[in-house]
Amino acid sequence: MNTEYFVIDREHPDPLILSRAADILRRGGVVAFPTETVYGLGANGLDEQAVAAIYQAKGRPADNPLILHIAHVRDVEKLAREIPPCAKLLMDTYWPGPLTIILKRTNAVPDCTTAGLDTVAIRLPASRIARELIQLAGVPVAAPSANTSGRPSPTNAADVRADMDGRIDAILDAGPCDIGVESTVVDCTTPVPAILRPGGITLEMLQAALGEVRWEKAAHTAENEAPRAPGMKYTHYAPAAPMILVEGTVAQRQKKILELAEAALTSGKRVGALVSAETASCLSTAVVTAVYGSQADLKAIGARLYTALRYFDNHHVDLIFAEGIEEKGLGRAIMNRMRKAAGGQIVKL
Ligand code: TXA
Ligand code: MG
Repeated sequence: MNTEYFVIDREHPDPLILSRAADILRRGGVVAFPTETVYGLGANGLDEQAVAAIYQAKGRPADNPLILHIAHVRDVEKLAREIPPCAKLLMDTYWPGPLTIILKRTNAVPDCTTAGLDTVAIRLPASRIARELIQLAGVPVAAPSANTSGRPSPTNAADVRADMDGRIDAILDAGPCDIGVESTVVDCTTPVPAILRPGGITLEMLQAALGEVRWEKAAHTAENEAPRAPGMKYTHYAPAAPMILVEGTVAQRQKKILELAEAALTSGKRVGALVSAETASCLSTAVVTAVYGSQADLKAIGARLYTALRYFDNHHVDLIFAEGIEEKGLGRAIMNRMRKAAGGQIVKL
């Protein structure tokens, strides 16, 4: 398949490009497009064949449901048969934005989109391109992150092309995404809303709006827990080389990563490090280093994490030592993704 490639301005998107992309969606094709979180792989979410093409392009397991992206709050009514007060409140407060809400679905939503679940995930993105594209297509757009299943989500169009060129109909390139980690997934079908995946809207922000929110950290870290967002059980975000995550205080992390890196270098290994700017300055120049930003700026770390993870794909290393960060605010989503990338290989100090 020949993938059409469009460069598009995110502030002033060319209407001709948007209508071309919307045409492709209406005809059942797959288009990668930017959102404020990560690039999405979009198709008509009500068309089973179009949705099947997404699973095919990503190599995604069929039991992992998709998020339906909409352009207006009123579009929820066709997709959800019940909108509880907590969901209404979240929509009013954080939509458009990086928040996905789980609701009971209507019959309009096909089984393949929800992987047979009785619930549906819905998001109204903040990205102007995303919303105008969905509006023009005139259908809810099912869109997982635009990576091959298991790889880090793409936060720029070059990363989308690396995974999807030749596999989908078109790519819209509007430069890097602002947030860089995916949306927060909140289940509003339970008496107390529960965070199924931490993301761009933080626990603190949800608590401010709702008061009570369930956040079971263990469910997002322990390997043996059955996660409630089906996608959370799969290995994700993993670079090609094994990655070992080091967690602890700043001083503990630095000391341990230095020790581990030195020992691995001495034994003749090619060593990678995924670290903060502060820790990078202590490391030997023999270490292949990707810096995700300064510890003081969680927002910048979120925006750069996946690009830094993908860096190691082109710089062959035998193993990677990664530095954890403080688990507050956006730090929860960042640590959740780093733990998954490490596939449970964690040194806790
Ligand atoms: O920021 C984002 O959410 C991006 C952009 C493109 O919008 N999309 C994204 O989609 O991250 P994806 O497919 O990579 O992740 C969707 C997550 C998965 O963990 C999936 O299992 C969960 O949402 N999910 C979808 N439908 C669900 C449902 N009905 N119940 C529980 N979890 C659901
Ligand atoms: Mg994904």
